[in-house]
Amino acid sequence: MTHDQKNILSVRDMDREEIDALLTAAAKFDQKKFTGHELEGKILAVLFFEPSTRTRMSFASAMMRLGGKILNLGSVEASSIVKGETLSDTIRVISGYADAIVLRHPKEGAARLASEVASVPVINGGDGAGQHPSQTLLDLFTIRKSMKLENIDIGLQGDLRYGRTVHSLAAALTKYDDIRLHTIAPEGLDLPSHLKQDLTDAGMEIIVHENIEETIPELDVLYVTRLQRERFPDPAAFASFAATYRVTPELLERAKPSMIVLHPLPRVDEIDQSVDNLPCAKYFQQAHYGVPIRMAMLDEVMRS
Ligand code: NCD
Repeated sequence: MTHDQKNILSVRDMDREEIDALLTAAAKFDQKKFTGHELEGKILAVLFFEPSTRTRMSFASAMMRLGGKILNLGSVEASSIVKGETLSDTIRVISGYADAIVLRHPKEGAARLASEVASVPVINGGDGAGQHPSQTLLDLFTIRKSMKLENIDIGLQGDLRYGRTVHSLAAALTKYDDIRLHTIAPEGLDLPSHLKQDLTDAGMEIIVHENIEETIPELDVLYVTRLQRERFPDPAAFASFAATYRVTPELLERAKPSMIVLHPLPRVDEIDQSVDNLPCAKYFQQAHYGVPIRMAMLDEVMRS
């Protein structure tokens, strides 16, 4: 890692000022206040070792909107990784081809490892069940569009054990005042205890709920996630969790009129499609904010 390399690996490494500065920059990009030449001449390498639609495409869109170009690894099967090349070697080589790297990888810690051998900035596009900082920033951006990020009740529902978006979001929320975190997960899929410990050590109040019906009237934000099927060690265990919960218009009748529903997407069947047109459904708008957020991140790490 070079001395002045600016990586974005985890929200844990960022203080509240850094997060707020990126959210403010994203608001500027969202209002179309940019020239489109900010990253002219720069190349972003996109290395995704796991499937992705939003993160991959919105990073590419963000880079192109700022005048930069994209270098795609393409499919893992078509790369030298199938010949047994290590991640470190791949990253060392690609450092010479691009001005920054965005990496998604199934192993927790992969982005940090990559940053140690890279000679250009590394952005974590999701590392296993670990962190997903660009998703967290766009989640915070979406919440801030509807309410102040203080003194609010946020419900995390779904696969809180393997879902990196909730791990990442919860860590970021500890940096804001009076956020109460309500967890609603099938038994066995609650937040890992070491994460709960970190959150409580950081002063966050966590309230564990058995069911969504009793929780929903208290919430300002309901953040729903899918079961992370690919991270279940035992497919048979997955089957027993599937379809254990579903957000429906009937359920939402119990919510405060100002409550918003977020989801990092992809949705499988945890939010009924009839919710999509309700004013509380913000998940597609949330996905759109991925572009201005990633523009802010790319500008931050590559601006010369
Ligand atoms: C999430 C991810 O990859 O962690 N997707 C995304 O980036 N929006 C959530 C998920 O896959 O469930």
